[in-house]
Amino acid sequence: MGKNSDTDTDTAIQSIEWREDHLRILDQTYLPKREVYSDIRDVGRVWEAIKKLRVRGAPAIGIAAAYGFYMGIKELPESTFDSFLVEVERVAEYLEGARPTAINLKWALNRIKTTIQAHKDKPIDEIKEIVLKTAKTIHDEDKRICKKIGENGVSLVKKDAKILTHCNTGSLATGQYGTALSVIFHAHEEGKDLQVWVDETRPLLQGSRLTAWELMNAEIPMKLITDSTAGSIMRQGKVDMVIVGTDRVAANGDTANKIGTYPLAVLAKENDVPFYVAVPLSTIDMELENGDEIPIEERDDEEITTFNGSQVAPKKVETYNPAFDITPHKYITGFITEKGIIEPPFKESFEKLFED
Ligand code: MRU
Repeated sequence: MGKNSDTDTDTAIQSIEWREDHLRILDQTYLPKREVYSDIRDVGRVWEAIKKLRVRGAPAIGIAAAYGFYMGIKELPESTFDSFLVEVERVAEYLEGARPTAINLKWALNRIKTTIQAHKDKPIDEIKEIVLKTAKTIHDEDKRICKKIGENGVSLVKKDAKILTHCNTGSLATGQYGTALSVIFHAHEEGKDLQVWVDETRPLLQGSRLTAWELMNAEIPMKLITDSTAGSIMRQGKVDMVIVGTDRVAANGDTANKIGTYPLAVLAKENDVPFYVAVPLSTIDMELENGDEIPIEERDDEEITTFNGSQVAPKKVETYNPAFDITPHKYITGFITEKGIIEPPFKESFEKLFED
């Protein structure tokens, strides 16, 4: 757990770890004040950890759900494959309900369901072990993919780039390294002289609590700003590029990400600032034609009516608290993937990518 000595980068925190028979997560709700690790041994607690953002960020949610799937089926009694499958579907549906926007959750569960089907002739106990192995594979692959995203993105970064980012897309949000932050970590490692602007990311402050923590651990120069400062610094020429992550990209390139991403993209276009989205292919949902079809999670009133436990809005005020927004593809300069940089027209480029 923690930093990995096998790598040059000082940023390689691993926030999710499988330990023999249980999952250990770095509980992100305590950061940056305290580093609290939680041992999770049942599917209900995995569901709760995803719902409450103890583990968060699209790829990390997929990884946690994959291990949760194993926990949900591992105690099932020996039975026929068909009755086992009924329970498998029940566990998958339960986990999928934890958060609706990040496609990685559904993607990981579907991948495991397909693996189960492919081994239907094996004894149930053996299938359970195959499920655990698949979860570990999803986890390991994500680390490799995120590293590749970082390496691929470096070519887009000027040697003294001023980069703006939103939410948290680092090792905390993935198996390791991150997506948008992986590009920043790798560019820093290559000796580029970066200045990162970190949006605080209202209302749950993933920018100030988590991204600032990760960048400061890695000793990358950064400044924290309020979300509403972004436009002003773009107009002053203080931003060379924006890089964000995403929870789901539709086939035409429309992109769901943390609320506040869409206004950033519009401001970037207005100010001629390139706007990049770093994304593993597992986050691209080719079944959805455009962003209007992406389900957007709405979260509890308290996230915006209270701050640090204190009431900051009149009691019983009506709220609207979507966790994500959609950035239309026309605002996106390119996608940074493990297979390279994807340029418009995105639909055609994605189709080609998934054919290969
Ligand atoms: O609600 P969160 O904190 O899970 O939202 C996370 C984001 O919006 C990230 O930008 C996205 O998942 C990409 S993470 C690599």
